[in-house]
Amino acid sequence: MTGDLPAIDGGEPALSEPIGYGGQSIGEEEKVAICEALESDYVTRGPRVDEFEDRLAEFVGVDHAIATTSGTTALQLAGDAIDLGPGDEIITTPLTFVATAYPACHTGATPVLADIDTETRTIDPDAVRDAITEDTRALVPMHYGGHPCDVDELLSIADTHDLTVIWDACHAFGTTLEGNQVGSEPDMATFSFHPVKNITTGEGGAVVTDDDELADRLRALRSFDMNYEPEGHEEEPWYQVTEGVGYNYNITDIQAALGLEQIDKVESFKRRRQEIMAQYDQAFEEVPGLRTPVVKDGVDPMFHLYAVEIVEDEFGCSRTKFVNAMHAENIYVQVHYVPLHYHPFFQEEYGYERGQFPETEAVYDRIVSLPLYPAMSDDEVDSIIHAIHRLHNTRR
Ligand SMILES: Cc1ncc(COP(=O)(O)O)c(C=O)c1O
Repeated sequence: MTGDLPAIDGGEPALSEPIGYGGQSIGEEEKVAICEALESDYVTRGPRVDEFEDRLAEFVGVDHAIATTSGTTALQLAGDAIDLGPGDEIITTPLTFVATAYPACHTGATPVLADIDTETRTIDPDAVRDAITEDTRALVPMHYGGHPCDVDELLSIADTHDLTVIWDACHAFGTTLEGNQVGSEPDMATFSFHPVKNITTGEGGAVVTDDDELADRLRALRSFDMNYEPEGHEEEPWYQVTEGVGYNYNITDIQAALGLEQIDKVESFKRRRQEIMAQYDQAFEEVPGLRTPVVKDGVDPMFHLYAVEIVEDEFGCSRTKFVNAMHAENIYVQVHYVPLHYHPFFQEEYGYERGQFPETEAVYDRIVSLPLYPAMSDDEVDSIIHAIHRLHNTRR
């Protein structure tokens, strides 16, 4: 008889089938739309991509959206579009996925890291101010988990120092700040449509901007830096010339068909994410040592991650033990992220070391993302809550 023991102590796992921290919701509408795209003339970039970009721009409230193959390539294009290069610096957060630094890493610029505000786990504007040098060209703040950074402060710093802002909004599609969609702020924002994100196109991403020149540059770079209508060749419809080294980061009409259906569902996805967040918030209110995510005034969040912090002395076990205990329950929680300065590449290439960013490191030691995605059932949410309560009860 195992009683109500955590699975790691020999009890029954809370879930009979494993679940991860995120996942897509794809319905019949998406399947029909994808089949229609397959039967159309375009299986590469075609009219559905144009429509998807229009819908994205309209949704975010900007003039332009440029769809790309991923959030990673969106960030890379953004760095290229402002001609970053060796000798330039960008300032970004250590608590992020490696791709946030790619506007620098891919162009030869240097990613300068600035510590986080532990409340929102986003870059701390004071740390940004301290990191500015005469070589700083851009800020790349990341809206951790879907909660916006301190947008006003960061825009004011950018304004004072004449810096471009590339918002990594890969987690935050659908979040609003003071009624505006996150991503609508100057100069550019990037989104990811990976299946764990707030909407999906399989793989995919986008850069959004109000800046016409940047939009032209991003579009050209996405497709081979090709000028399809060069001056002086009006009588030669075949005449296309490349004006630099670009990429093929085109998404397909098949992906756009999926994306268009997903945009239609974004409000219902948001409601479901918020419902699950509210269930978690309520269930963990009284659990000592389990810190739930903060939502600041003015924010209507579409959280991609529900990242809690486990304070060992109060909860009764460490974050690492918590993760392993949840995995034993078939609940595949995840840690976001191993800080950038812990990675061998950032240490060897840019000279970072452990110990440099104490706030990030303290949060990293405590943080863990619980499952959060619209397709989760109430039973799954209840089982996760139950598993966490019983772990705490046996460890306190
Ligand atoms: C903060 C952040 N930026 C960028 C990316 C890259 O997005 P993608 O997976 O679409 O390349 C990710 C992916 O997880 C991310 O979490």
